[in-house]
Amino acid sequence: MSEPQPAERTLRVVGICGSLRPASFTRTAVKIALRGAEEAGAQTQLIDLRGYSLIFCDGKEDESRYPEDVFKLRKQVQQAKGIILGTPEYHGSFSGVLKNALDLMGFNEFEGKMIGLVGVSGGPMGAFTGLSDLRTVGRALHAWVIPEQASIPEAWKVFDPGGGIKDRDLEQRLMEVGRQVARFACLHSAEQALQFLNTWECAPVNPGGAVKTL
Ligand SMILES: Cc1cc2nc3c(=O)[nH]c(=O)nc-3n(C[C@H](O)[C@H](O)[C@H](O)COP(=O)(O)O)c2cc1C
Repeated sequence: MSEPQPAERTLRVVGICGSLRPASFTRTAVKIALRGAEEAGAQTQLIDLRGYSLIFCDGKEDESRYPEDVFKLRKQVQQAKGIILGTPEYHGSFSGVLKNALDLMGFNEFEGKMIGLVGVSGGPMGAFTGLSDLRTVGRALHAWVIPEQASIPEAWKVFDPGGGIKDRDLEQRLMEVGRQVARFACLHSAEQALQFLNTWECAPVNPGGAVKTL
């Protein structure tokens, strides 16, 4: 039998930024969460919707005139096992830009995938309502939305406009969302769970554990 490959090597996690603002704090939050996924061994990609020419979802009856970027977006999300969704809080929910991107996709891209949520807000209440709404959308798409999430209130106090973050605890929280998405996505994939079990069973016996009788 061939050596088991580290499962993480093939694990892709993408992060979709639901803000088009050039100096978006959501984008920084998604990038930090992706760093966490990378730390857990995933290959990551930021999907910055500013770089995609999408259209408004019109019900998807005739896709022949859809711009190429719709299919590019679908393909990139399809190839991922974990997806970080990042959104600003807009009028007590998540952004329309993100909703439209999600509406242009569906079960093909999301079913059975692991989703992690991160959100920012200008006000002191955080992005909880937006993230709860996204959690509902994740369920509708038959995805697994992990319980851990990161909601960052008064984002203008926390992030540098240049793309950094000042609060180390919040940075860790964002990274933890990414790490968990990567780990749960890995566990959820049967083939990779098998690789994990192979690695586990080939590992040296734990000197502090029970004596192996096989
Ligand atoms: C249309 C719109 C609606 C907003 N609604 C809320 C809101 O309901 N609650 C809140 O705290 N901030 C609200 N904000 C402020 C944004 O959450 C805040 O500016 C955030 O940093 C935007 O995300 P971004 O930096 O990723 O672009 C709103 C901003 C816009 C443009």
